[in-house]
Parts: sequence; structure tokens; C-alpha cells
Amino acid sequence: MSATAATPAAPRKKVTIGALRSMKAKGIPASYITAYDYPTACFAEAAGIDMILVGDSGGMTMLGYKNTLPVTMDEMLHFTKAVCRGAKTAFVVGDMPFMSYQTSNEVAQINAGRLIAEAGCDCVKLEGGRKMAERVRAIADAGIAVMGHIGLTPQSLSAAGGYRVYGKTRAEFESILEDALALEQAGASFVLLEAIPEEPAGYVRDALKVPVYGIGAGRRVDGQLLILHDMIGAFVGDIAPKFAKRYANVGQVVTQALTEYVRDVKGGQFPAAEHLYPIEPDEAAKIRAYLEQRTK
Ligand code: KIV
Repeated sequence: MSATAATPAAPRKKVTIGALRSMKAKGIPASYITAYDYPTACFAEAAGIDMILVGDSGGMTMLGYKNTLPVTMDEMLHFTKAVCRGAKTAFVVGDMPFMSYQTSNEVAQINAGRLIAEAGCDCVKLEGGRKMAERVRAIADAGIAVMGHIGLTPQSLSAAGGYRVYGKTRAEFESILEDALALEQAGASFVLLEAIPEEPAGYVRDALKVPVYGIGAGRRVDGQLLILHDMIGAFVGDIAPKFAKRYANVGQVVTQALTEYVRDVKGGQFPAAEHLYPIEPDEAAKIRAYLEQRTK
């Protein structure tokens, strides 16, 4: 029976790894979005988003860094804690920032553990394929769910050749497939593909048992991720990925509101009568009398 105004829908149950696997088995695509703060997490919950990535892209979208390399563990913990306070049922993935896992298994376990234990997310994400398989195994062995991220990996953009599409040749496809299989074998619970054409991305998805999500990887994957600021028109910068569909123009709405506020303040239209706290006339008279007496 569908819910009506008289019979509100039951609150959604927590989205777990089991629920995400079952969605994959049933062919139901997961909706996946980035968020970095409490209000956005609440909005995502209200919209019924399945998964939230607290991405290190927050360094660019929220903090104005040129790329994701300066993002620290402390910043990621700050963002992730705020999101976890708002995301009561969505599955929250905390991103491991640059140099929080690359140097050793122990460093990777400690930092993944902090995102899970201190911030309260459900899973961590790290970038890299075969080269990072050992780290994935170490984190998974510590009992922490891991998402491996391959294709375009922003933390190694300079080494990899910048913002471009990956997997357009047989050699690149083979490398991406080997990376994905290595991540799965190492114990990754999920794989994320970024900036890969639909057909090769679909073959990678078909070769794996774990859910494979995509950002700019076409339709033949188990769910779609977008960066919030791209989809709501709030990114301040010059990167505009072809794959990002824009659903709103929040930057324009906010700028317009602020422009009107400036105009109202300068022109004396704000505050208006309805924004003022009232005072009883006799109390106002007493205050004026008091002031007169003080100046005598
Ligand atoms: O940080 C992030 O938002 C990401 C996506 C680009 C996949 O890693």
C-alpha cells in the first residue's frame, strides 16, 4: 500500500552494506552524493539519498584549495563528523586524504580507524588500484569497510596526466580492470570508477561481485555519484565536468539574495517594521524620562 498523508511512510532503515548489495542484486541503482556539512546531510536524508561521500573534494568546494592535496585528516574528521550528525540513515563514506594512507599499512589503519571511530562513518574510501591493494587489505583486516577509487584519481593527477577520461584504450582498460580485481581481492567492499567511458566501465562492473559505482562512468554501474557543488551550481572555480548534470543554480540564488540585502541595508529598507522587537509605550516613555534625567 502506498503511503498517503494519513499514513506517513515509515522512517527509512539505516542503509547498510547488506542493503547496498541487495540493491545491486535487484538492479536498483544507488544514489550517491558528496556532502561536507550538517545541513546538506539533513537535506540529503530528506531527499532519500542512499549514500553520502564526505569527499576530500571538500577542500576545493568548501575551503577554496586549488586541488585536494592540502586536505588534512583534521579537516576530513571535521567534515565527516558534521555529516554523520545529519545523516541518520544514509550510508556515509569518509574519504582518506592525501598521505593519510600511502606511507604504510599502519598509518592507513590508524587514519581509517579515526574516520570510523571518531567521526562515525560507515566506510572509508581511498584512491588507487593494485598499488594500494595492500593498504586496502590492511584496513579491511582491521574490520573497516573500504571503497577503492580508480580511473581519474585527483590525489595523483600530476603523475597520472591531469583531468581527462581514463580507459579509452585497450591498454588503459586492461590496467583499470586489473586494478578493480586487485581491490576486490584485497577485500574492498565497493569500487568507484571515475571518468571512464560507459562501455569499459560496464565491463569492469560485470567482472566484479562487489557493487561498482561511477562518477562520470556512464549507466552500466551499480549507482551514480555526483559532487554536490557541481549538481547544485555552487562550485566556485573553473572545473566543469561534462558528466555533471546541473539541477539548480544555488550560487546565483545566493548571490542574488545577498545583492538584494546590500541594496536594502544601504537604502534603509531593511530592517522593516516587521523585523523590529516591540516595546510597551509606557516602558518607552520611562526610558526617555530616565535619559532626560541623566542628562540634567
Ligand atoms: O573527494 C571526492 O569528492 C571524490 C570524488 C571526486 C569521487 O573523491
